[in-house]
Parts: sequence; C-alpha cells; structure tokens
Amino acid sequence: MARARHRRAGSISGPDKHQPIPGKHLAGGQHFTFSKGVVYAPNLTSDKATGIGAYTDEELMRVFREGIGKDGRPLWVMPWAALKGQTEEDKRAVIAALRTIPPVTNQVPHSQMR
Ligand code: HEM
Repeated sequence: MARARHRRAGSISGPDKHQPIPGKHLAGGQHFTFSKGVVYAPNLTSDKATGIGAYTDEELMRVFREGIGKDGRPLWVMPWAALKGQTEEDKRAVIAALRTIPPVTNQVPHSQMR
C-alpha cells in the first residue's frame, strides 16, 4: 500500500486530474474542453453506482493494460500506455490503493470526442 501511495504521489499526475471537487477526494467531475471534444475526469472513488466500486480487479487491470473501460468503451484520454513501465505488482498495488478511497456519489458524464 505504501508503495502504491508513493507511486501515485510521485510518478504521474493522474490523481490530480481526478480530484477537482474540494471535499470530494478523487470524485471526478472536472471537465476540459478541447477542439476535439470535452473530457471529464472520472469518479475514482469506490462508489458502486457512480465510481469504480463495481469494477472487478481484472476490469481495472484492463483499464491499465488496454485503456478499455468496464463497459467496453475506449478511454481515449486515459494515458494507459504511460503505465507500461509498471509491473503487475505495481498495478495490483494501485488497485489496492484505489479500493481504500471512500465512496462519493458523483455521476460524471462520459468524455465525448468528435
Ligand atoms: C495511476 C493513475 C491513474 C489511475 C489509477 C486511473 C484510473 C482510471 C480509471 C479506473 C478509469 C475508468 C473510470 C470509469 O470507468 O469511469 C479512468 C478513466 C480516465 N482517466 Fe485515468 N487513471 C490514472 C491516470 C490518468 C491520467 C494521468 C489522466 C490524464 C492525464 C487520466 C485521465 C482519464 C480520463 C479523462 C478518463 C475518462 C475517459 C472517458 O471518460 O472516456 N487518468 N482512469
């Protein structure tokens, strides 16, 4: 767990992207508008309905390995390829850390690319 926390804090900027609402740690919702569409930071809390609580560990592994969401949707902006340097153990540690985030109900729209 300490290992996952360390990596998340120090290696890439993912957590910031997913943490826009004060008091709603990692609950997502912030959006970025580009010429090619609008991107929403997802809710990474363990809420089953609006977060990633309903993801199995293997479904989260697929996000990290292939950039495919639970429903089979390509997560275009999620920089999953940048996680290639992570070992299997690293990815499992990130999943374990994600599981500790308390649930926050916050329905976030899917990103839309033109
Ligand atoms: C260790 C770091 C990261 C973890 C654990 C992580 C985890 C996830 C997960 C589990 C999803 C799927 C959420 C869902 O189905 O609602 C997701 C989607 C997404 N991630 Fe990440 N992510 C990380 C880093 C990043 C970074 C660095 C960025 C941007 C620079 C990013 C941008 C996004 C976006 C925009 C989506 C939603 C895409 C869409 O709605 O189509 N992520 N992430």
